[in-house]
Amino acid sequence: MKAKIVFASMTGNDEDMAEILEEDLQDAGFDVDCSDVSFTDASDYLTSDLCVFITYTYGEGVMTDEIADFYEQLQELDLTGKHFAVMGSGDKTYNEHYCENVFDFEKAFLACGASEAIPPLTIENAPDDDDIARIDQAAEELAGKLNEQ
Ligand SMILES: Cc1cc2nc3c(=O)[nH]c(=O)nc-3n(C[C@H](O)[C@H](O)[C@H](O)COP(=O)(O)O)c2cc1C
Repeated sequence: MKAKIVFASMTGNDEDMAEILEEDLQDAGFDVDCSDVSFTDASDYLTSDLCVFITYTYGEGVMTDEIADFYEQLQELDLTGKHFAVMGSGDKTYNEHYCENVFDFEKAFLACGASEAIPPLTIENAPDDDDIARIDQAAEELAGKLNEQ
């Protein structure tokens, strides 16, 4: 099974999440490729069974340019038959905008025809031990889901 993880991270929190998930999925037997959104074209998802997007949210939900470009590319894709998962770090003081870009991408993947393998996973700021355990658990669920087929 191939997994493609794309992350957007300014201060490293989402990159840390991506690295934890990458290692977990490798341990679960996935062939994993992980890259920064700025250096990735969304069409890279076309060769993967599992598409993962991990993102920050800045500016009360308004997408930064690097995310907005990727979001536009994603909307052009047909991902029917593929699974996806979205995750990200935010800050609850932003209230209704908490992790808003994670949910924007959830909608975009669904519109591309992909099936959501697990519910969105959101964490506050840097991943702590509990968050790492949640990412480990998510990886287990992803492995279980994709191996069901
Ligand atoms: C100027 C600014 C705006 C932010 N806006 C939001 C927001 O709208 N929603 C949210 O959930 N978090 C918001 N945050 C918090 C960041 O998303 C959070 O710190 C996240 O962990 C950053 O991830 P990164 O380290 O991967 O860049 C904001 C932070 C800053 C500094």
